[in-house]
Amino acid sequence: MKILVIDGPNINMLGIRRPETYGTTSMETIHERLRVLANELGCQINFFQSNHEGQIVDQIQKSYEVYNYLLINAAAYTHTSIAIRDAIEAVSIPTIEVHLSNIHAREPFRHISMLASVCRGQICGFGYLGYEMALRVAVSELKESNL
Ligand code: DQA
Repeated sequence: MKILVIDGPNINMLGIRRPETYGTTSMETIHERLRVLANELGCQINFFQSNHEGQIVDQIQKSYEVYNYLLINAAAYTHTSIAIRDAIEAVSIPTIEVHLSNIHAREPFRHISMLASVCRGQICGFGYLGYEMALRVAVSELKESNL
């Protein structure tokens, strides 16, 4: 069971960036917690962060036949990127969309997700716990249905 966590633009600024919206936990701390959880759940986990749309597309393509599941917080690209959407669709790797904030309770431009239609589901509004929920779901799905 190999799972890749993909973080998009400005997620590397967590802790500094709008703590009232995104919390005070850094991306590194979130990843460390996920590493511990992955170990408990018995899966391999890797991380990729980029501020560049094309690099995220490249990474999704490289994940083909390498990873069994993707967790993605595409950040602002969620709302704009047909390219990231198409890459997820192209590789057919089950994917969960994660957001720290509740994008549906924020500005109208954040209510639209280009990715939602090609993802298994979306978890948003629970801060870093959303990543941990997504990891638990991914592992359960992989164990139960051999996705
Ligand atoms: C975000 C929500 C996006 O609207 C925003 O652009 C982000 C972070 C979140 O995790 O809540 O950068 O994906």
